[in-house]
Amino acid sequence: MDAFSLLKADHRKVEDLFSQLESASGQAKMRVFEQIKMELELHTHIEEKFFYPALEKPKQTHELTLEAYEEHDVVKKLLQQMGRAKSATEEWEAQAKVLQENVEHHVEEEENELFPKAEAALSEEDIETLGEQMEAEKERKQRSASSKGSSKKSANKSASKSKSASTAPKRTRASKSKSSSKSSGSKRSKKSTKKSRR
Ligand SMILES: [Fe+2]
Repeated sequence: MDAFSLLKADHRKVEDLFSQLESASGQAKMRVFEQIKMELELHTHIEEKFFYPALEKPKQTHELTLEAYEEHDVVKKLLQQMGRAKSATEEWEAQAKVLQENVEHHVEEEENELFPKAEAALSEEDIETLGEQMEAEKERKQRSASSKGSSKKSANKSASKSKSASTAPKRTRASKSKSSSKSSGSKRSKKSTKKSRR
């Protein structure tokens, strides 16, 4: 799949999820939000890893790409904030509205301005290759997310993995607070790291 088709398909999926969020309530609403969060995190990740770096250099896409990075940061911060909530409070609902508006604006700008300029700046081969790279990365991430999800309860296993997650500093916050809150936990993790080094 070429890069534009892949990203546009992601956009449509998130739009659909946002309309589901509007009509859902209670815990069902939080579950729809979790899906939105996962989709947007995956989408921003593949764009930032492959698509935007390719568009940063060409003159015609340079500025829009820098803007897009900033818009992603706003979205990611909102997602993290909202992800800490256990239920949809009034404040949370307001954040959800701002999130949706931000995403809609970003999608519009990408599809109407960035993509046409990217199409002119990149070769057909580039566009195809970027699409393949993003698709593969998405699948890889989804696979690792589902395996993490199934082993969530075995916290010790994920603690030994946290070393490799040092490249993603934002995500380590939660795991740090968990492990540092109990001193007995650190003894256990020492044992487990010894085992894993063999
Ligand atoms: Fe984006």
